[in-house]
Amino acid sequence: MKLYSLSAGLLAILPLGVAADDLVVASVSNDLANMVLGNAGTCCVGLKLFLGDKVSVEGQSVYTNSLESYFSLQNAQLTPNCIITPTSKEDVALSVFLLNVGSKLLPGRCNFAIRSGGHTPWVGANNIDDGVTIDLSKLNQVNVSKDRKTVDVGPGNRWLDVYGRLETQGLTVVGGRASIVGVGGLTTGGGISYFSPRYGYAVDNIDNFEVVLASGQIVNANSKTNTDLFKALKGGSGNFGIVTSFTMRAYEQGPMWGGFVGFDISTIDKQFAFFESLTGSANYDPYASFILNVVYDQATTSWSASHSVVYSKPVANPPAYQPLLALPQTFNTADVKNLTQLTIELGYSNPNGRRQLFTTATFKNSAAMLSEIYKIAQTNVNSISGISGIKYSLSFQPIPTVINSKAAASGGNSLGLDASDGNLMNMLLTVTWDNKSDDATVESAAKNLFAQANTKAKSLGKFHEYLYLNYAAKWQDPISGYGADSKAKLQAASKKYDPAGLFQKNVPGGFKLF
Ligand SMILES: Cc1cc2nc3c(=O)[nH]c(=O)nc-3n(C[C@H](O)[C@H](O)[C@H](O)COP(=O)(O)OP(=O)(O)OC[C@H]3O[C@@H](n4cnc5c(N)ncnc54)[C@H](O)[C@@H]3O)c2cc1C
Ligand SMILES: *[C@@H]1O[C@H](CO)[C@@H](O)[C@H](O)[C@H]1NC(C)=O
Ligand SMILES: *[C@@H]1O[C@H](CO)[C@@H](O)[C@H](O)[C@H]1NC(C)=O
Ligand SMILES: *[C@@H]1O[C@H](CO)[C@@H](O)[C@H](O)[C@H]1NC(C)=O
Repeated sequence: MKLYSLSAGLLAILPLGVAADDLVVASVSNDLANMVLGNAGTCCVGLKLFLGDKVSVEGQSVYTNSLESYFSLQNAQLTPNCIITPTSKEDVALSVFLLNVGSKLLPGRCNFAIRSGGHTPWVGANNIDDGVTIDLSKLNQVNVSKDRKTVDVGPGNRWLDVYGRLETQGLTVVGGRASIVGVGGLTTGGGISYFSPRYGYAVDNIDNFEVVLASGQIVNANSKTNTDLFKALKGGSGNFGIVTSFTMRAYEQGPMWGGFVGFDISTIDKQFAFFESLTGSANYDPYASFILNVVYDQATTSWSASHSVVYSKPVANPPAYQPLLALPQTFNTADVKNLTQLTIELGYSNPNGRRQLFTTATFKNSAAMLSEIYKIAQTNVNSISGISGIKYSLSFQPIPTVINSKAAASGGNSLGLDASDGNLMNMLLTVTWDNKSDDATVESAAKNLFAQANTKAKSLGKFHEYLYLNYAAKWQDPISGYGADSKAKLQAASKKYDPAGLFQKNVPGGFKLF
């Protein structure tokens, strides 16, 4: 039991670890709680009494810096009533507890958003107008275990910082590929890594989640404790609680080979053919990690091809890439580098502070399908090519069975994929533009592209229902894409660990279960 004294001279007893549901009526009179939490019509005055300087409001530099560090301008432009910046798991627990109590007393007045790196582009996924944002950036521990087998990683880290700290010790973890992307969102939503063909998704390499539940309780979820929650968190995003630490498996890792290679767009069908043969290789080389990009350039109204080629060993021009590298190149930055350098290079092309849209689909591995999508996109882009600042990129990533078959060995995940799904390819559309007045036009073009691509995929027998949550647009439903069985298990875990549905009803951002 913990005592928190209120600067107003009141004393409230908050037994952390007792469900907020039991506590509301028992120890906090409605009048008292209303006075504390309801002052000024928001939760923020009450939160400040308990959390002090860890709560900031408009005009304060902590608040401004937090907003400026969002990836998309849409989210940077939301203005929460206050931002909580917890520095410990206990702060997170107290925040969730108070927001839970507040939500009951002031329905709709204490809604909140969960934010780690802040890289989900769609508006409201990680920030909120007229609510409270919990910014986890100060939970940035990177603690290697004595035996070097695991690392405790805080959700507020950026991958650059995680890899930078581990690289000096010859270690790495299975995480993101762009420097500034955050740990919390990527790792609860799946996580595609340069190491995924070797080890699976980021979620397949987590030994323990330390998580704050709706009640304010801090629990662990692993292969022995809260096993249903453990599996649910491997893909269930922010639906169950706030993860305050990930125990990630550590792997020995030295320098790698990689970079971007540009190819003449006239050979694009050969590049697609390479994609299909790499993805479908009977003996997929697990050190190869490839992203094929076709990008529309507004200034020249032309398309270019610039692919991320990475090999997680210091081997230049490895055989896996030779059929591609034999095609005429326009530039080539591939070299032996360390992982932090590679993440910085991938981060360059995606800076913060612009209007952004991500949309995704999954198809069966097929060069013909890639070619059809490219055709559809060439027409689709015309509907938005005149918009100020438009950048329109299609990225395709191999999801060979070697990735989807890894989950089983660590107890499974919630993504609903396994070896029986066969070799797949992920499609990501990224659009950036300047003005809010163009948001609706861009969104409608993106919906159109995917509607046409999915229709084509169905007619070619290449459709797959999976949607990668971390790339999904607001209007997509990645949880249903996990399949009925996985969705039902996620819903059951929510009923068990968050019976009143705090994370369903009072956290409007993110992809919901119900
Ligand atoms: C430039 C760029 C590069 C990318 N590269 C990759 C890549 O290589 N591989 C890949 O898989 N994805 C990649 N992504 C997608 C990325 O995984 C998502 O954008 C992801 O949401 C980023 O994590 P974050 O912590 O920054 O997210 P945030 O936007 O902060 O959070 C996303 C969601 O996760 C939930 N959440 C966040 N933190 C927690 C927590 N601690 N506990 C519970 N729930 C939480 C929240 O509900 C929130 O809605 C990339 C994105 C960008 C913009
Ligand atoms: C990380 O390690 C440091 C030093 O060993 C320790 O003081 C700290 O408590 C650890 N942090 C977490 C969150 O485990
Ligand atoms: C990784 O590369 C960068 C840039 O060359 C360098 O500054 C850094 O020291 C390297 N890290 C390690 C661990 O060698
Ligand atoms: C859009 O943004 C550009 C660049 O910021 C600006 O010059 C232009 O006037 C804006 N157009 C509209 C319609 O707002």
